[in-house]
Amino acid sequence: PLIRREDYRPFPWLVPEIVLDFDLGLDRTIVRSTLTVARNARGDRADTIRLNGDGLSPRRVAIDGAPVNDWAMDEGDLVLPLAGDAHEIMIETEIDPSANSQLMGLYASNGMLCTQCEAEGFRRIAFFPDRPDVLSTYRVRMEGSRTQFPVLLSNGNAVAHGESDDGRHWAEWHDPWPKPSYLFALVAGDLVARSDRFTTMGGREVALNVWVREEDLPRTEHAMESLKRAMKWDEDAFGREYDLDQFNIVAVGDFNMGAMENKGLNIFNTKYVLADPETATDGDYDAIEGVIGHEYFHNWSGNRVTCRDWFQLSLKEGFTVLRDQLFSQDLQGEAVKRIEDVRVLRSVQFPEDSGPLAHPIRPDSFREISNFYTATVYNKGAEVIRMMRTMAGPEAFRAGTDLYFDRHDGEAATCEDFVSAMEDGAGLDLGTFRRWYSQAGTPKVSVELDHRGNTATLTLRQYVPPTPGQPAKQPMPIPLRLALFDRASGTHAGEQLIVLEDAEATIAFDGFAERPVLSINRGFSAPISIERQASRDDLVFLAARDDDAFARAEAMQELVVGHLVAAAGEGLDASDRQQGQDAIAEALAAVLEDSRLDDLMRGELMVLPGEAYLAEQMLVADPGRIHREREGLKRWLAGELGDRLRTLHSRASAVPYALDRKARGARKVKTLALSYLAAGDREAAAELAARQYDAADNMTDRQGALMALCGLDSAARTDRLIDFYRRHRSNALVIDKWFSLQAMSLHPAAIEHVKALREHQDFTLRNPNRVRALYMAFAGNPHAFHTESGEGYRLVADLILDLDPINAQTAARFVPPLGRWRRIEPGRAALMRAELERIAAAPGLSRDTREQVERSLG
Ligand code: ARG
Ligand code: ZN
Repeated sequence: PLIRREDYRPFPWLVPEIVLDFDLGLDRTIVRSTLTVARNARGDRADTIRLNGDGLSPRRVAIDGAPVNDWAMDEGDLVLPLAGDAHEIMIETEIDPSANSQLMGLYASNGMLCTQCEAEGFRRIAFFPDRPDVLSTYRVRMEGSRTQFPVLLSNGNAVAHGESDDGRHWAEWHDPWPKPSYLFALVAGDLVARSDRFTTMGGREVALNVWVREEDLPRTEHAMESLKRAMKWDEDAFGREYDLDQFNIVAVGDFNMGAMENKGLNIFNTKYVLADPETATDGDYDAIEGVIGHEYFHNWSGNRVTCRDWFQLSLKEGFTVLRDQLFSQDLQGEAVKRIEDVRVLRSVQFPEDSGPLAHPIRPDSFREISNFYTATVYNKGAEVIRMMRTMAGPEAFRAGTDLYFDRHDGEAATCEDFVSAMEDGAGLDLGTFRRWYSQAGTPKVSVELDHRGNTATLTLRQYVPPTPGQPAKQPMPIPLRLALFDRASGTHAGEQLIVLEDAEATIAFDGFAERPVLSINRGFSAPISIERQASRDDLVFLAARDDDAFARAEAMQELVVGHLVAAAGEGLDASDRQQGQDAIAEALAAVLEDSRLDDLMRGELMVLPGEAYLAEQMLVADPGRIHREREGLKRWLAGELGDRLRTLHSRASAVPYALDRKARGARKVKTLALSYLAAGDREAAAELAARQYDAADNMTDRQGALMALCGLDSAARTDRLIDFYRRHRSNALVIDKWFSLQAMSLHPAAIEHVKALREHQDFTLRNPNRVRALYMAFAGNPHAFHTESGEGYRLVADLILDLDPINAQTAARFVPPLGRWRRIEPGRAALMRAELERIAAAPGLSRDTREQVERSLG
């Protein structure tokens, strides 16, 4: 059934307290839950209570101590008659965690037990009103074998523990903060902890633990350091203090997503906890810091203030993503972090917003909420809140968030609550700005700059394209940071912030004897696409001298995007092609040589726009042509700038391993230089890559070298792939990299490699990380996925069908790449559609996959 936002009704009952009693076993766990319920004065009057369940059956039910038999089951839910105003309901169920391959609810992973309840997993553990606006205090008792489960964890504070008979032991936990069921967590297993402490600004002593399997303990230092930095940062930047005596993080090898912010007991995918220089790249270090921050920040934006219903998901996710971005930016440098965040937005969220799965950051309806944990809700949601911050300024924004936390602490709030707190606290008028919450689609803003006499006149027009279910759109306020550069002096008179409120606006700027150079949407002040006819000269000018580092990188990108889109679209004549290539080579040469740039920034400027983003710029894309043009440009640049690239590579190779900016920058440009060179003289590049591989004393260099080798047909490729596998065969996260590198390679036979790898002894559909390592990498590898025969589409469709009965949530995540068919040239589009239809015709499809496939077919 379709669930609609407008149908929200409060639950007729309150559940102020729940007591959970677990008798733990890997394949048999008994759960006894005792709910204290009372009528909700704000809800409708009801003479029953509906408790959600998914695959559960009640073994015993009692109300106020008396056994009840007149219960009914309805679509998995338990419906009980309930006449009075306050009752105690006791229900006993039995579950089999080891049979839980969906990894939602209570499941077994590597001999341990753990939970994932967001969004609707709690109903696979116990009958309960499994919705975020029912808040309860939890008391949890669990008992199990001491040898099998020496560590017993749940939310809140540990209150008691003890021994029982036959080698069993028990523990009791109490969480004083009322929370919805999606924040419940339990972990039982053979784990060890890295422990530390943190003293909060109010003087609370907090015991910190990062729990892992014993062999992983040496790889937990970075996670712990990140956690302490996050706790301090949230105090400094947002005035948020931690509120329990302990904070536990557990790393789990089988996990559907990145991590989960359960109150006081965050559960993480091992990928976002474990790191050392030997096994994790610089990118992994950054991702760990970001996700640790993200989950910790949820303690306020998500847990203390939670969501009224799942349509409000962006209330906590958009805001928390913004918070983690600001956190990482303070540590990694503002411009570099912003460029990376915008790159993700454009390559993942923009395609979502222009395709069949487009939805507003606050959706209006869904069938399966798991399908809405999207780049739109998370990343565009963060951009929308960032725009408020840009319009208010950091201090007023902080006043707005202070008011929001203050006003809604302990409540289940809505996006509207956030916006009104921002209006009242920050002093903004967000009237029509609210449309950012309700309208899907990436706005396009066309920009024209006229110059006459001493006046430059800027004309802006916005257009929000139609999206499924939203044929006509209204204009939205768009904050644009801009500067007008004097061509001769290369300076500007100061940046301005203008807000484009209406469909069109004209602004005049006086005092320009000569036509100025426009720098617009600086810092990516709005998540839109700018459409303008900037001259090559203007872009070269900005790429060389814009004082906004983001805008500078942007000009560089625009130069390349313009060239490649024209080349892969209507085509370029020989002289246009030559001029375009020369301008790009000149700009890139300047980037390679500019001694004022640090290498982290230099690296950003060296990254070419991705093929998905290029395709996004075209009405109908031919992925084959885009790939050939982009690779062709790289080859040409490698030829033109070969000496400079080799010099850069050897300069960077001389920098010894360290985690500081300088050494990280050196590693970044080293592999980027290699990847350009690999497009040119392949033999020489294979030799250089093999040397980088052999000399590597860290995973960043080793992976970078192997990535280049994977695309080359050389003996070194096979040798180093074998070496990498042997070195790291006992480390699942590194073997994931081994699968990914081959699946995303530029090798012409990449698709054959993927077919072989799915038969590899280490491949399994049971582990989401492994599935993603092979197939997400493949689906993101345009030349292989878009093989003209359609074989790539078939491989992904086969995966979806095989995985759906095992792990529906993960299977459904592979549908969007096929859903892009409308924007692909007709031959491939028909093949993609045919695969979607084949999936749709399969019997017994999960709700997750069915919803995505049907939306994708339109
Ligand atoms: N709230 C988690 C986060 O930090 C994500 C949980 C997603 N779970 C799911 N079943 N979709 O972003
Ligand atoms: Zn989150």
